[in-house]
Amino acid sequence: RPSWYAEMRQEHPVRYDEQRERWDVFRYEDVNRILRDHETFATTHSSNDGGKSMISEDPPEHGRLRNFSSSWFSPRTLREKRERFEEIADELIDDIEPGHVDIVPEFTHPYPVTIIAESLGLPIDDYEQFIEWSDAALRVPARTADEEEVTPEEQEQATQEMSRYFSELIDERSDGTDNDLITIAATNDELSHEEKITFCTGILVAGNVTTINLITNALWCFAEFDLFDDIRRGAVDREQAIEEVLRYRSPAQSLRRIATQPVEIGGKEIGEGELVVAWNGSANYDPAVFDAPEEFRPERKPNRHISFGGGIHTCLGAPLARLEADIALERLLDRFEVIEPDLSDLSPQEIPFGLKSLPCYLKN
Ligand code: HEM
Repeated sequence: RPSWYAEMRQEHPVRYDEQRERWDVFRYEDVNRILRDHETFATTHSSNDGGKSMISEDPPEHGRLRNFSSSWFSPRTLREKRERFEEIADELIDDIEPGHVDIVPEFTHPYPVTIIAESLGLPIDDYEQFIEWSDAALRVPARTADEEEVTPEEQEQATQEMSRYFSELIDERSDGTDNDLITIAATNDELSHEEKITFCTGILVAGNVTTINLITNALWCFAEFDLFDDIRRGAVDREQAIEEVLRYRSPAQSLRRIATQPVEIGGKEIGEGELVVAWNGSANYDPAVFDAPEEFRPERKPNRHISFGGGIHTCLGAPLARLEADIALERLLDRFEVIEPDLSDLSPQEIPFGLKSLPCYLKN
């Protein structure tokens, strides 16, 4: 992948893909410009028949759909939740039998999903059902070998059942005062009922698999570059190392936009209405911005990766994702003296970029 990106940045930094009928853009400068110029490069409106969502709207609608929730996601608000999120990590780790385990179903998958359930303020008895729905709705690959793959019909059904479930909770909390995300949406007068539901399902879609893959990719990188001990004794800064994981193995590799008017980029003329794919995964390896981009450098600073996008659609959940990854790695490294992922037979998935399974040897 990095070598394909390198070839594209050099030979075809902006190219038209005839087969897929879209433009691909590979250089940092161009990708960054696309993300920041939302007037020329609009977000792709999803054809959903439900409520509008921030991710598929541009100004003026975008602000109405996003800003009411931004203070919940601020690093300051999240700092207060750190202890509770640590408890969630510890409870999951308590249940792991050391020895040979697949860390994805045992930890990196349930951890972010439980945090999202908690953040939405779901009743604890509903967590299991919620995890089932969210896996089916997102078609997360079967968590164990004997589980069946989710069919498109099951996906549709899970999405509908979950929407109905959110719809009821939104009604129940319409004059609530709690600080969970459902209540925050439910009590917002500027959103329609459908938009409130879409906000809740959107948080789920945007926030789960991406974070699962960040945490798994961090274990993958730290094993590959032999960093567990250095991080454990503080010789390498954990948060900075996670930033480098974001750059080096970004869960999101590409972002889509539509040109709203004819525009020139990288010497190519893009027509109005054409689809543009901005490869942030390639931008993260651009030598114009990063020294020795092919090297994993946990101390890299500044690290101007664009794994959370840029401009008005910059990931709302970035501080949450960073916090979750930081706690997950802190707790895992603290609780297990030995963490030995088996990197001999990895088969990374492309979207989001990461691993469906990561067998590890763990010792207390
Ligand atoms: C947007 C990546 C975690 C919520 C985005 C975008 C990226 C991204 C690249 C921009 C999309 C675009 O410009 O088209 C990631 C990665 C994550 C992560 C790599 C984890 C490592 C989360 C979490 C949440 C979240 C935990 C919420 C709980 C959102 C939302 C948007 C968004 C709501 C849309 C923002 C807008 O359109 O204004 N994310 N995300 N993300 N993300 Fe994340």
